[in-house]
Amino acid sequence: MSKTKGTIAVTGASRGIGSAIVRNLAERGYQVACLSRKGQGIEDMAPSAQLATQLKHYTCDVTEEQSIIDSLQAAHADSDKLLGLVNNAGIYIPGRSAHYTTEKFRQVFHTNVEAVFSACREVYPYLKAEGGGTIVNVGSFYDRLAVAYNTAYAASKAAVGSLTRSLAIEWAPDQIRVLNVAPGYIATDLNKKERETEAFMTYLKTNIPVGRAGEPDEVAQLVGTLFDDNIGFLTGETLYIDGGQGTKLA
Ligand SMILES: NC(=O)c1ccc[n+]([C@@H]2O[C@H](COP(=O)([O-])OP(=O)(O)OC[C@H]3O[C@@H](n4cnc5c(N)ncnc54)[C@H](OP(=O)(O)O)[C@@H]3O)[C@@H](O)[C@H]2O)c1
Repeated sequence: MSKTKGTIAVTGASRGIGSAIVRNLAERGYQVACLSRKGQGIEDMAPSAQLATQLKHYTCDVTEEQSIIDSLQAAHADSDKLLGLVNNAGIYIPGRSAHYTTEKFRQVFHTNVEAVFSACREVYPYLKAEGGGTIVNVGSFYDRLAVAYNTAYAASKAAVGSLTRSLAIEWAPDQIRVLNVAPGYIATDLNKKERETEAFMTYLKTNIPVGRAGEPDEVAQLVGTLFDDNIGFLTGETLYIDGGQGTKLA
């Protein structure tokens, strides 16, 4: 059995990018506190018997503040050393702005922004007590783009980049790094419907310089590296992983 290196909590651990992050961190030897709405395990991954011993599951709906507080408290109590948090849970609700209800807008901001802030605040005292740690938020490359029919989602991810920067400088004296990993198109349930159309697949091939959507494992590898390499001078930054799409001219 590989030696474990401490515990990292991951929200939205049930599937997609979240479950890929769980696997990557476990393979690197971390214990992973998997926070998910069902609290029952990983839906799209069957971990090996070895990896399963490194995972603990907790129920956490990030739109319920008490649920964030309770699950992080339990994860802390169960771990020798809580090293960090990945705020991965997120929702995507596109729609024409002219008809987009305030209720939907609030729903997107509740999950994608308010919950990220609450989880950062709740994990802070645990990381501080350990002498430091790392928080990785999962944003989106939409944070710096103008994206029709995505006003709420893009604004919510821009807010994630902003709160990442502010928390990073506030908590740097506590040796806590806060980073924002901002993916481009990654093949998950989030965009499954769109990927069913040939037109969208052609759009991806044509518009992403590397010629394809990204894989959840590629995002997970970046997140895992940020924990493993623990570069002390790197904090507050948004790191884009989008196949070059966000920076190309046309
Ligand atoms: N896929 C992309 O192209 C892409 C691009 C840029 C950024 N992102 C970001 O990457 C993150 C993960 O997305 P994904 O592509 O893996 O999406 P996904 O396959 O739709 O998975 C979303 C995850 O978030 C969880 N979640 C949603 N609402 C929650 C809540 N209230 N409480 C707890 N968990 C909740 C879901 O849990 P349940 O299983 O309980 O629903 C699921 O684990 C999101 O923040 C997303 O905005 C994705």
